[in-house]
Amino acid sequence: MAEAKKSIRDKYPDIDFAKLPQHVAIIMDGNGRWAKARGKPRIFGHRQGAKTVRRITEICAELGIPYLTLYAFSTENWRRPREEVQTLMRLLIEAIQEEIDELDQNDIRLNAIGDIDGLPPATRHALIEGMRRTRDNSRLCLTLALNYSGRWDIVQAAKAIAKKVGDGLVAPNAIDEAYFSKHLSTADMPDPEILIRTSGEYRVSNFLLWQIAYAELFFVPVYWPDFDKSHFIQVLRDFQKRERRFGMISEQIR
Ligand code: IPE
Ligand code: IPE
Ligand code: MG
Repeated sequence: MAEAKKSIRDKYPDIDFAKLPQHVAIIMDGNGRWAKARGKPRIFGHRQGAKTVRRITEICAELGIPYLTLYAFSTENWRRPREEVQTLMRLLIEAIQEEIDELDQNDIRLNAIGDIDGLPPATRHALIEGMRRTRDNSRLCLTLALNYSGRWDIVQAAKAIAKKVGDGLVAPNAIDEAYFSKHLSTADMPDPEILIRTSGEYRVSNFLLWQIAYAELFFVPVYWPDFDKSHFIQVLRDFQKRERRFGMISEQIR
């Protein structure tokens, strides 16, 4: 392990390992356009996109970034053609079954956020089984956002808190930001310091709305299947050059 850490440091000498983000969130976009550009059906792009997930999970684990959250299927994605939705749900099962042994061997925990009860049963079962198998792993928490939207997350937190108020377990005055955060689906995670969107679109598409309040945003103009480790490392380099002021002025944080 110490050896492995040493070699990754040698490989990326310009990365400051003391200043790595603790949580990176990614909107994986552009699978369909990647496929279309090659005259292939959209699902071909989704298959290729799964390989990128593997690469980026690997680099996060190697670097020692403890949380990676990937937007895999939004609440709004149910509006796509039925066949694409069905194939995506099937692909998810395949990907989990193919990767779970290696994830487990690498001490990676599979996690999910979103309205998991709304997924087709076979997909839900594969996911739950994958999470159960890897639940004690601690090197990297790989979270898939599935049937997820940021507004859904905020509403489900509000409902849970409203119930506690109704049951007399908490006083409305005691509800602050920290308490609210503890009811979001990301309760046990730090907020992402980095949000990446691939494909050249400049929008958040209802991803982690509350949690990205102070995230650094990166819009990378390559389709998700073409996003590789070097693109990821370049984001880290740029991140480490940015001054995160959190409302203060430059002199206060130097
Ligand atoms: C992202 O790629 C994957 C999902 C949303 C499931 P897209 O399928 O959105 O690809 P484009 O944006 O149409 O190219
Ligand atoms: C966002 O991508 C959702 C995921 C990456 C899962 P979309 O491709 O669905 O986003 P829009 O519709 O272009 O905003
Ligand atoms: Mg898209």
